[in-house]
Amino acid sequence: MVAKIIDGKAVAASLREEVGIAVEHLKQQTGNVLGLAVVLVGEDPASQVYVRNKAKQTKEVGMESFEIRLPADIPEQKLLDEVEKLNHDTKVHGILVQLPLPAHIDETKVINAIDVAKDVDGFHVINSGKLATGQGSAMIPCTPMGCMILLRSVVPDLSGKHAVVLGRSNIVGKPMAQLLLNASCTVTICHSRTQNVQEITRQADIIVAAIGRPEMVTSEWMKPGVVIIDVGINRLPPEHEGEKPRLVGDVAYADACGVAAAITPVPGGVGPMTIACLLANTVKAYAAMQQTEIPENLSKQLG
Ligand code: GUN
Repeated sequence: MVAKIIDGKAVAASLREEVGIAVEHLKQQTGNVLGLAVVLVGEDPASQVYVRNKAKQTKEVGMESFEIRLPADIPEQKLLDEVEKLNHDTKVHGILVQLPLPAHIDETKVINAIDVAKDVDGFHVINSGKLATGQGSAMIPCTPMGCMILLRSVVPDLSGKHAVVLGRSNIVGKPMAQLLLNASCTVTICHSRTQNVQEITRQADIIVAAIGRPEMVTSEWMKPGVVIIDVGINRLPPEHEGEKPRLVGDVAYADACGVAAAITPVPGGVGPMTIACLLANTVKAYAAMQQTEIPENLSKQLG
């Protein structure tokens, strides 16, 4: 078998295009420019790259981008004050605090200080509760949302499929499992303490890998014809001197390609979807605030 490559870069570009059209439509309808604020505490290099890309793509879809950069030693209360300011800022419709935060800051406290209506990351306990119970419309965490869009592009009917999620983080694993369950999959969550993990993954129709371990998931973990969504982004030292670090997923890609029916590459799979979904969530947040519908072109893409 030669796996179909799921082109996240192309799907994300098309989603951003629809977001751009929706942003323009809402501007015509309501007279407002949509605004997304990103808060970065400290100078973690990977976070800086993410934040720069978010700002660039936010502007490209016609939204206003607010970047709040704060020193790594900022007292927790000062950060909470900044969040509160953004909660009340009428030009800001979405707020994202880049994680991880420095160790002296209580992440949960900061996340739950964000106005639920502006929580475009979907990490607020009320949004995760809504996702888990189906009470009202939840803001869905961006990476799992991107994974679902990619998955549906190759498996339109997920009902009854056995999906195995590797990883149980609040950012990816848990909301991912919830979304798959809501799509009527049979869901198994595996993690670092799971015994005989390969026996479980070999039963999977779908594997979502979000464990942060380079190339851990090999073809031996797979049933022929499985669909693989690889969330991992791991930097490996270059093979030869003078080369850039190699980016690899949690899945041994070349090996998996011989067994899987479809797979997301790294880079160019799940990665580009996250920001596109963040922008889509900002449209969703704004539409809800205005008590209007998400423009049809975009709601169609979100399914
Ligand atoms: N750090 C890694 N992924 C994410 C994400 O999706 N949102 C935020 N806020 N921080 C992150």
